[in-house]
Amino acid sequence: MERIGFIGTGEIAAAMVAGLTGRGHQISVSERNGAMAAALAAQFSDVTIATNEQVVSDSDTVFLCLLADVAREVLPDLPFRDDQRVISVMVDVALAELRTLCAPVNEIAITIPLPSIAVGGSALPVYPDSMALRSLFGDTDMIIPCGSEDALNAHFAATALASPILDQMCEGARWLAALTGDQTASEQYVVTVFAGFLRSMIENPETSFEDLLDSLATEGGLNATLRTHMRDTGAVDALSEGLDALKPRLRLAD
Ligand SMILES: NC(=O)c1ccc[n+]([C@@H]2O[C@H](COP(=O)([O-])OP(=O)(O)OC[C@H]3O[C@@H](n4cnc5c(N)ncnc54)[C@H](OP(=O)(O)O)[C@@H]3O)[C@@H](O)[C@H]2O)c1
Repeated sequence: MERIGFIGTGEIAAAMVAGLTGRGHQISVSERNGAMAAALAAQFSDVTIATNEQVVSDSDTVFLCLLADVAREVLPDLPFRDDQRVISVMVDVALAELRTLCAPVNEIAITIPLPSIAVGGSALPVYPDSMALRSLFGDTDMIIPCGSEDALNAHFAATALASPILDQMCEGARWLAALTGDQTASEQYVVTVFAGFLRSMIENPETSFEDLLDSLATEGGLNATLRTHMRDTGAVDALSEGLDALKPRLRLAD
């Protein structure tokens, strides 16, 4: 049994709590956001609500799920101990700064959850590698240890692929529904097509994106025609440029 605390009870904390609940842990969440904390405590019998101070006092492992400015204001006053583990999910607070904010904690890691952690099967890049993270999520999610903080931050940038790609799928489903008259069936069709491609890569790790693209590259075919159109109109370059534009915020060299 682990005593696990969450400072900052927002969207990502709620997803992580949902992923951890029911496994014999004692989970405390901080009072803000009040509605989210109350909903988690009402839904899960192993979740209690506490002040920030109590969450830290009562936990072996503390997850930091705050926005950076709030973290800088709140963390220095909390009663961290040197026998605790801290795992931050915050994009904008570097490891060196965390060491100061959470002194005297020695074991500090940064990971990158996404909301799908609620149901398991998600990917968790982490730096430095964390036995605490592995013991809590290693059975349900894929832990990806990164070789450096820069490599971790590059994964933070890559998480931003999610909404533009979902947006394209959404637009494709909307286009289909305009012709079929059934939005739900169109979304299910698009998602099933992609789930099939993605499953084939996960089940066969030797399969690359290039392999899948090759299988869709029949000259003059519908896929090749639309892909060429997207490249010619700059949509693919725009994606790379957008990722590059995230580098300064993530302290990544150009
Ligand atoms: N959402 C994601 O998918 C995701 C993924 C990876 C990493 N992250 C990182 O996770 C962090 C949180 O993101 P989020 O999307 O979960 O944001 P969020 O929903 O806004 O959660 C932040 C929470 O902090 C609470 N808070 C504000 N002041 C506080 C204080 N003094 N003490 C304790 N809690 C306080 C807020 O409560 P109030 O609403 O009452 O102000 C809110 O519930 C960010 O640093 C982000 O980079 C998020």
